Amino acid sequence: QPFDQEREDNGKDDHQFFMHKEIHQQVATTRDTFHHTQHCLLDIPLDFEQFQRLTIVACGTSYYAAMVAKYWFEQIAKVPVDIDVASEFRYREPLLSKNGLALFISQSGETADTLAALRYAKANDQTILSIVNVAGSTIARESNISLQTQAGPEIGVASTKAFTAQLAILAKLAIHTAHYRKVIDVKEVKHLLNEMNALPGLIDITLGIEDQIKVLGASIKDAKHAFFIGRGINYPLAMEGALKLKEISYMHAEGFGAGELKHGPIALIEPGTPVFVIAPDDSLLEKTLSNAEEVAARGARCIIIGNQASIRNLPEGMEHLILPPCDNRLSPILYAVALQLIAYHAALALGTDVDQPRNLAKSVTVE
Ligand code: G6P
Repeated sequence: QPFDQEREDNGKDDHQFFMHKEIHQQVATTRDTFHHTQHCLLDIPLDFEQFQRLTIVACGTSYYAAMVAKYWFEQIAKVPVDIDVASEFRYREPLLSKNGLALFISQSGETADTLAALRYAKANDQTILSIVNVAGSTIARESNISLQTQAGPEIGVASTKAFTAQLAILAKLAIHTAHYRKVIDVKEVKHLLNEMNALPGLIDITLGIEDQIKVLGASIKDAKHAFFIGRGINYPLAMEGALKLKEISYMHAEGFGAGELKHGPIALIEPGTPVFVIAPDDSLLEKTLSNAEEVAARGARCIIIGNQASIRNLPEGMEHLILPPCDNRLSPILYAVALQLIAYHAALALGTDVDQPRNLAKSVTVE
């Protein structure tokens, strides 16, 4: 059944919080976004072969989607990519290339900084592409081309289903660009698309281990700090995992590239400090696990989030959460769901107002 935005009643159904409902909707919202984008991409008037450079600008969680997309566009489509947080973009007076494509990612389509950045790029002759979740929003209207995530209304302040839907579009866009630029063979395109189509089922399996994640999330509620580490494409995901936790639980959480810990943040590790290690069995696994050992040696409580293959030779004393295997290039879409559930259950155990966290607004329309 396609996810029908029109008919969605905006109630919480049986969920305690909208955020919980929205985490669970991701099986449908990622699937629908994949399908919808597939059709849209065939029609959009964008010359995928020609643009020289891609600039991606966004705020908050949407910015972490941009960070993931940088890996996809550079590794899969071989396009050079710059990324900026919107509030900084125009102040550094970026040198935008001729024939440049500028992409703005925003759930609401109304974020003031992102809109101001869009106008700057437009004034500097960039083709403006946007990814928004709200049709007809200002960012969508001011773009040359706008793609819509099929996430439906997102009520919880902390973004969940909009994030995975943004990633779904971005992955498709990168594969499409690679295809047009002839830097990927047809067999590989088919493989990646098949892997993408399998993701909603894998998200469903991940939601199925929620009881286990609930115990894990609740177990960190008294920690002073929590850290998330990852390498490569999982580095931005570590930042997003930490952002989710701080937004809704008010715990101090930070995300780092796993190799960067020893250059400072490791000083914060105390006995029992939770460190979530995003570690699918990719080519960086060994290095990531050795970074986990560095913090474990200082007493950290390491929780490896990986799959059966990646936890095979786990150093003693490390905990693990096992997700289903998927293509490592697409793992952020799946692993995001586990991180959202960890943050949700930590917040639930702490008794915060998950949907309306203090000091935060769903859409920030002031600069
Ligand atoms: C606010 C929200 C965040 C969101 C950010 C960007 O700060 O609290 O959850 O990621 O804005 O919003 P956007 O609508 O532009 O994606």
